[in-house]
Amino acid sequence: HDENMDGTTRERLSHIQGIPLLERVVKYWPRVEKFQASEEDLLIATYPKAGTTWTQEVVDSILNEGDVEKCKRAPTQVRMPFLEMTAPDGSSSGITKLEVMDPPRVIKTHLPIQLVPRSFWDAGCKVIYMARNPKDTVVSYYHFDRMHLYQPDICLVLCKMGILGWGSWYDHVKGYWKERHNKKILYILYEDMKEDPVREVTRIAQFLKRQLSKSTIEHIVQMTAFSAMRENPMANYSTIPDTIFDRTASEFMRKGEVGDWKNHFSAGEDAAFEEHYRKIMSDCPIPIRFTI
Ligand code: A3P
Repeated sequence: HDENMDGTTRERLSHIQGIPLLERVVKYWPRVEKFQASEEDLLIATYPKAGTTWTQEVVDSILNEGDVEKCKRAPTQVRMPFLEMTAPDGSSSGITKLEVMDPPRVIKTHLPIQLVPRSFWDAGCKVIYMARNPKDTVVSYYHFDRMHLYQPDICLVLCKMGILGWGSWYDHVKGYWKERHNKKILYILYEDMKEDPVREVTRIAQFLKRQLSKSTIEHIVQMTAFSAMRENPMANYSTIPDTIFDRTASEFMRKGEVGDWKNHFSAGEDAAFEEHYRKIMSDCPIPIRFTI
């Protein structure tokens, strides 16, 4: 493994068009930028910790009509590669995995909309974007960072200020929101999916033009519930080695709830955050809820 002078593995952030990204994402950027998407490919785009893995599992379950065994054919990162990511040792990457897969491919990205490779838009690909309220997103990011030994060392204060890999949460959620009617973007919210997964899974299936029975939808909701995914080795990232994910620090499938931010924001911090949030979101009223 690449190690820093002090024996730790944490990476720095570098920039592409002003967006902070892991150094290794920047290093391999040219091959991401020129990736050729095909019309049948589906892009799942999120800000980190917004419920990406959950959306991926729901999509794969829909495409496989609720067939549990098919969905367990391989771990998440193999079934639905992470477009811009390269392994810390450079041994594998989203692009190298995608190159040997035939379309239709389901592809994960955390890129803000302006950095999504052009070919996705030229080909007219469908995109599913999931957003999650920023307080829970930041808390989840913070805990993920504690376990991910290659992420830059961040603290909750920096998280709250938005100095994070993949840039500003605000710009990210707004970027896709503003384009949702111009492009084939289905915009979904983590809190809505928690509140009524049958309704949201049905919306996703309709967007993907899959006719599924009510019982199949209900089965998919059960398969993709937090408790089920947490126990599923093909959906819980247990295949990522301990040298990358330090599970003594935190878990990938941590809580999966709406409102855990209440355990991390003091009343003062919350008031300051709310004021800032209202100001910045005033030009873009995405119906994001902080509690359900
Ligand atoms: P918490 O840290 O709040 O528990 P991502 O996949 O974008 O990295 O997001 C990870 C977050 O989604 C984690 O949040 C994780 O627990 C949560 N998550 C994963 N699967 C989920 C599911 N089936 N239902 C609800 N939340 C889920």
